Amino acid sequence: MTPARADASRPTIAVFDSGVGGLTVLRAIVERVPNADYLYFGDTARLPYGSKSRETIARYAIGAAQFLQQKGATLLVIGCNTASAMALYDVKGAVDIPVIGVIEPGADRAAEISQSREAVVIGTEATVAAHAYQRALARRGFATHEKACPLFVPLVEEGWTDHAVTEQVARIYLAEALKASSVHIDVLVLGCTHYPLLKNMLRRVLPANIAIVDSAETTAEAVVEELASNSRERKQGGTLSASAKGGGIEGPSFHFYVTDSADKFRRMAPIFLGREVENVEHVDLGG
Ligand code: DGL
Repeated sequence: MTPARADASRPTIAVFDSGVGGLTVLRAIVERVPNADYLYFGDTARLPYGSKSRETIARYAIGAAQFLQQKGATLLVIGCNTASAMALYDVKGAVDIPVIGVIEPGADRAAEISQSREAVVIGTEATVAAHAYQRALARRGFATHEKACPLFVPLVEEGWTDHAVTEQVARIYLAEALKASSVHIDVLVLGCTHYPLLKNMLRRVLPANIAIVDSAETTAEAVVEELASNSRERKQGGTLSASAKGGGIEGPSFHFYVTDSADKFRRMAPIFLGREVENVEHVDLGG
């Protein structure tokens, strides 16, 4: 479908993820775009996506995207790396609002900072198997080594972001990844919603010459760009709204939709979002 443009004056920004991890992406967006209404869909009954097939992930992602459009989203962010890698184009074809995935913004940032044009991407098994990061980076002249790190998601969900066990797991994964790739690697892309919470620990474990690309932050910057380009168009068309002129509601509003227990989501959300959550609604999309 041809997307309408996001309303930059007081956008309704929807973030979709397989569960709680996409709250790292939501958090990064809210830090940059505080004056917006936020919808978040966490498909907590059907996670993890990281070990599922492309067909299944595409079906789930399309259902969530259409649901969020019906709820009034003017811009959709696929915060889930696995869903972005597997189903971005399926989702774009199924809704008529702009859709931003996490892969391209992460690849853009890697291209900005890398000298050697050699990168390691870490993610779920499904993200690595899809090779979406590898293709996106190849278009920017990169040789990329991808490494699945399936233990990171449960460790982060356990709250063990700075735990000795997690650090030991990280040392093993990164040693394997670096051994299998080139000595010229100068970028590590965090290709999973949960990994931004491991950033400080990964920084300690990684050689100092390897920069970290946080796909939550780069995606949030892509959202800012989309809204800014929409705002420029609106100004040119002379259609500034009340809130774009300085009026209207200040600060973010949130509505969360989850497919499993709302209570469990409320308990886990602060680890990822950095704040308590209210307005959590259970939904059942079927299928
Ligand atoms: N949200 C997923 C991702 O970013 C990780 C969790 C899962 O496997 O569902 O890839």
